[in-house]
Amino acid sequence: MTEGVQTPPATQFTPRVFSGIQPSGGLTLGNYLGAIKRFVDMQDQGIQTIYCMVDLHAITVWQDPAALKRQTRELAAGYIAAGLDPARSILFNQSQVSAHAELGWVFNCVARMGWMQRMTQWKDKAGKNAQNASLGLFAYPALMAADILLYHATHVPVGEDQKQHVELTRDIAAKFNHDFKVDFFPLPEPVIEGAATRVMSLRDGSKKMSKSDPSDASRINMTDDADAIAQKIRKAKTDPDALPSEAKGLDERPEARNLVNIYAALSEQTVDAVLADVGGKQFSEFKPMLADLAVAKLSPISSEMARLMQAPDEIDAILRSGADQARAIAQPIMDRTLDIVGMVR
Ligand code: TYM
Repeated sequence: MTEGVQTPPATQFTPRVFSGIQPSGGLTLGNYLGAIKRFVDMQDQGIQTIYCMVDLHAITVWQDPAALKRQTRELAAGYIAAGLDPARSILFNQSQVSAHAELGWVFNCVARMGWMQRMTQWKDKAGKNAQNASLGLFAYPALMAADILLYHATHVPVGEDQKQHVELTRDIAAKFNHDFKVDFFPLPEPVIEGAATRVMSLRDGSKKMSKSDPSDASRINMTDDADAIAQKIRKAKTDPDALPSEAKGLDERPEARNLVNIYAALSEQTVDAVLADVGGKQFSEFKPMLADLAVAKLSPISSEMARLMQAPDEIDAILRSGADQARAIAQPIMDRTLDIVGMVR
């Protein structure tokens, strides 16, 4: 059990895990280490785990409809290939459970414009062109709060970049509870743990590894073959110095830190344990070690994803059954929310 899960924030709420990923492009190593691998770890802790493909979030920026369908199935294949088991976790796509959009609307009326304007992801994504961004992109964190609170989830495994959104979810839950004088929604905890909570671009250690980076060399895609993985790691930006023997020697060396973090996360060791082993080595020696490790860990996942993608009907059946299970939890919470707000039922 992770530390966060041992101490539920509100004792009256049964611990429950919820998280989601946007099917807005291919899966990256950042998604895998920051999210999916952690989802799998949490699956076996005796807590209910619910993992979503958040397709309603994806359309806050333009998505080609055929590509969105393929990407949603590919994300489902990635979840399953990485070890999520539909018999042990609820796996579904968001748009099949209409209460997400319904609760999202209620939270649009709870959240304040100023809260949304402070979101760093909004500022990054909308940039100078905010007037042309979709209204959905602005309201997106209220929908994310709905995703989580619709299941009374208490723990949300995410990468570091989503921490602010989970904190906003707590603010929305607290304001709802306060405004309606209820103790209805839990204040969920972000669970951000492990060596790779922020995997950086292979080309620029100051930028997050992202599916939307125009340079394919900046990221490892979960669908990359062994040659592509090895080549991207060989070409990854580094500095000329040897690796240090302790973590503090990585200060001011973002590219070196990133590669060591990736190694630690893939090998399930701490950064200190890795450096105790590889301290003093040059990158010319360390990079092939990292490439071998990455290929060994990732290629079984990518080949299983490719196999699953041959059977889209099976994937669709898993998602439909997951949506049925999700709806069964969500509907009573949605009904009660509308009653609390004052809708005639
Ligand atoms: P998204 O789709 O951008 O990313 C999915 C998950 O992957 C993590 N992640 C990373 N972790 C480490 N290093 C990286 N370079 C990296 N890139 C991505 C993200 O932190 C995230 O955990 N708003 C969310 C999706 C969402 C959601 C939710 C998450 C919608 N509703 C409810 C949790 C609960 C997003 O855009 O993630």
